Amino acid sequence: MARQIVDVLRNDSPQILPSLLMCDFGNLEREIGRLEAAGIKALHLDVMDGVFVPNFTYGMTIVEAVRKITSLPLDVHLMIQDPIRYVDAFVDAGADVLTFHAEAVDDAQKVIDQIHRRGAAAGIAINSKTPVSKIEDCLPSCQLALIMSIEAGFGGQKFEESVLVKFQQVRDIAGTDILLEVDGGVNASTIEKSVAYGAELLVVGSAIFGHANYEPIINSLNSQIAAVKNV
Ligand code: DX5
Ligand code: ZN
Repeated sequence: MARQIVDVLRNDSPQILPSLLMCDFGNLEREIGRLEAAGIKALHLDVMDGVFVPNFTYGMTIVEAVRKITSLPLDVHLMIQDPIRYVDAFVDAGADVLTFHAEAVDDAQKVIDQIHRRGAAAGIAINSKTPVSKIEDCLPSCQLALIMSIEAGFGGQKFEESVLVKFQQVRDIAGTDILLEVDGGVNASTIEKSVAYGAELLVVGSAIFGHANYEPIINSLNSQIAAVKNV
């Protein structure tokens, strides 16, 4: 299953994954419907615990609610301390990819193994200030590497350009199979650079949800992606 989801995600890449952090949670079904109508092929869900990051969002109940609404792949980004405690619950809730932070654990391999035991794809995330060397050992057993272009915690922050070199660093360590994802401050000014440097999954929050209509901005970001790919 883990292998299958990577193939599905890669097939549509480079692609935009809207971050459901700033959407209207009172109208989740309508929000997801609007994203699907705009051609979105996978969703990014941000789970924050108020401990690993100062912000607090939602847990498995929302993941489960989203799972009931859509069959799109769900990429769940855990910004929580001690993620291994919640692996089972998030997979049961419907996560296809479960990504946790290297900064939040002592033994990343243990978490990856547990995610795999439960049949999901494993992603490892590093904040903008954390070097790739921190995840060097466990990268080859992950399906996805999430290169944060901000310090995790809040939407609407400025993209940190110095992280762009990390995509190649991850490739050099983990090879071509691993999916490369970028998250934080991805918008019309930063999306082309991200793709040019190798990001395949582009998480976008405020640049989409700051607009009343999602389709025009998604179309416009997609044409920027296409322009880089067709050079
Ligand atoms: C922040 C989250 C991101 C965030 C992206 O820690 O992981 O997914 O919502 O939002 P923007 O695109 O506004 O930076
Ligand atoms: Zn995220």
